Amino acid sequence: MNANSNQSASSEELISSQALIKRDADSVAGTIYRYTDIAFQRGDGVYLYDFEGHRYLDFVSGIATMNVGHCHPQVVDAIRDQAQTLIHGASHVGYLEPYVDLVEALKATAPGDLQSGKAILVNSGSEAVETAIKLARFVTNRPMILAFTDSFHGRSMGALSMTASSTLFRQRLSSLLPGVHHTPYPYCFRCPLKYASPEECDLACVNLVEKALTSVVPPDDLAGIIVEPIAGEGGYIVPPEGFLFALREICDRTGALLIADEVQTGLGRTGKMFAVEHGGIEPDIICLAKALGGGLPLGAALAKSELMDKWPPAAQGTTFGGNPVACRAGLASLEIIQQQELMPHAVEVGEFIQKRFMAAQKEFPMIGDIRGTGLMIGVELVNPDGSPADEIIKAIIKEMGSKGIVLTKCGASAIRIAPPLIISKEQAAEGVDIILSVIGNHQWE
Ligand SMILES: Cc1ncc(COP(=O)(O)O)c(C=O)c1O
Repeated sequence: MNANSNQSASSEELISSQALIKRDADSVAGTIYRYTDIAFQRGDGVYLYDFEGHRYLDFVSGIATMNVGHCHPQVVDAIRDQAQTLIHGASHVGYLEPYVDLVEALKATAPGDLQSGKAILVNSGSEAVETAIKLARFVTNRPMILAFTDSFHGRSMGALSMTASSTLFRQRLSSLLPGVHHTPYPYCFRCPLKYASPEECDLACVNLVEKALTSVVPPDDLAGIIVEPIAGEGGYIVPPEGFLFALREICDRTGALLIADEVQTGLGRTGKMFAVEHGGIEPDIICLAKALGGGLPLGAALAKSELMDKWPPAAQGTTFGGNPVACRAGLASLEIIQQQELMPHAVEVGEFIQKRFMAAQKEFPMIGDIRGTGLMIGVELVNPDGSPADEIIKAIIKEMGSKGIVLTKCGASAIRIAPPLIISKEQAAEGVDIILSVIGNHQWE
């Protein structure tokens, strides 16, 4: 282990990580896949620590969740205060101030008509997506949903029907929600239509949506189009300019609702509060989770009021959704993102990271593509023939853990870089150096 060692670790603690991993193997379902071999004991800012006191630079923030870093004092105080006041009340039983406060704060940051919108709080990203799909089908009274390959919308059976980033999630689960149709996400580095560049294709992926609307999806049957403004789990894929705008136009023409799944992209990660802002569009519904709860489980579906107002009382709800402690943690996190100007900071550090990888591309030809916005960056590793380096990416990610950095992959072979937005340039540089040194160990023969 080459990670920095915390000298205060006692000899008793030295066996703890291994012991925990053994206990985990005996009792926790094997389907929970671990990208690293690290057992996290505590977190502080941009660092995680194992039971032996080894320090790890967290380059993935619990999957784009700890936007303000681990155990931020303001978030900890908010959790402590609320836990001493009211832990649970259930939103169907009575009215909850933290719930209203968080929804108001979210609306204030939302684009266009969503500023006067209404939201339902739930427990996770999957549930936020379920809520959006149910709302779209209910208010339009239409059955079909259009989604994209390479997208991830969650693993519950409804959300999974839209998820199409890997067949791994769907194995033996086919016959999901009927009426879901997929067309290709504009993954320009590996263009599904084999165009050389986005300039050349004239948004051919949008043409495939149009084609679907004349072949398999009757426009009057389309309840909504669900899209990640940047595909997350699918590989941190940034669509070309004009793509989201074209989807907005199709929705306006057909009467379908545009649902932006901002579970991973939302709340400052891309340098804007919502990634749809980069495309200059307003969706009808936004799904949020991950960073929303400041580290506690919380999701939201925020929709235009005229849509939410059509949904009758009790049509949707959940016992824990909008839990007061999670809402207070989320509010504190939102305040930090805004007050400490973490969004422009994310843009600056994100550009710095991308430039560092671009400069290294010549020396490390395994780096096939560098893409992203703000602190949502994908570094795609390739084989000499240009195919995804999917055979070695897992080993590379695990090795990075042993060098003191926590990372995961996304897509077939991209390194997913999503550190807390509070990361400094120096810390970012340290992380990039470690990543490059590990890539160097796996260079092509
Ligand atoms: C874009 C997107 N939507 C939905 C989900 C599902 O969220 P959860 O894991 O909280 O159910 C995820 C999770 O990674 C996601 O990235």
